[in-house]
Amino acid sequence: MQSLQEKASQWSGVATADAFAIDEGNLFEALGGTTQPFVDLSTNFYTRVYEDEEEWFREIFAGSKKEDAIQNQYEFLVQRMGGPPLFSQRRGHPALIARHQPFLVTHRAAERWLHHMQKALDTTERIDADSKPKMMDFFRHTAYFLVAGNEMTRQQGQVVICKHATSKPAE
Ligand code: HEM
Repeated sequence: MQSLQEKASQWSGVATADAFAIDEGNLFEALGGTTQPFVDLSTNFYTRVYEDEEEWFREIFAGSKKEDAIQNQYEFLVQRMGGPPLFSQRRGHPALIARHQPFLVTHRAAERWLHHMQKALDTTERIDADSKPKMMDFFRHTAYFLVAGNEMTRQQGQVVICKHATSKPAE
């Protein structure tokens, strides 16, 4: 059986080594050692998401306040890119697959998410031109890792009706 990592690489078209090129140096420090580039990126991203013309995609985020979603994401990104563990201090382990379990993370949703993230990166001036493609490879691979994880948890969560567990039918 294919692992989630293998599925993520196949579906995203990003090799695992490229996805984790963000770890070759300390990206947080390279971008100036402050949270600002990440605040800018997440603000740009979620502004697009919450104003998306595609209602089906906007709806996925309807249960969260935009400011909270921004904070959750930028704190995670700061931590993942080599900065202080802001996300874990406030929210606990990132556990990304479990945290996305309530949402339908499909291939289509991943592409829409990535479309907004690419646009957000394009318009974030505090992130340099070298770091952008590296971050995008990480996002592409992670998005499809979440699609694969979402499919897995949904299959496991499915109720399987089988004869072994049903009560004896009424006469
Ligand atoms: C949270 C959807 C991809 C990281 C969320 C939330 C939704 C969502 C609806 C809740 C918003 C909130 O309250 O914070 C999706 C969809 C994706 C996707 C449809 C498409 C593949 C990603 C990717 C990453 C990511 C690629 C990381 C690189 C996070 C984080 C949170 C979050 C860190 C906050 C979790 C928390 O604090 O509980 N996502 N997401 N997501 N997502 Fe995603």
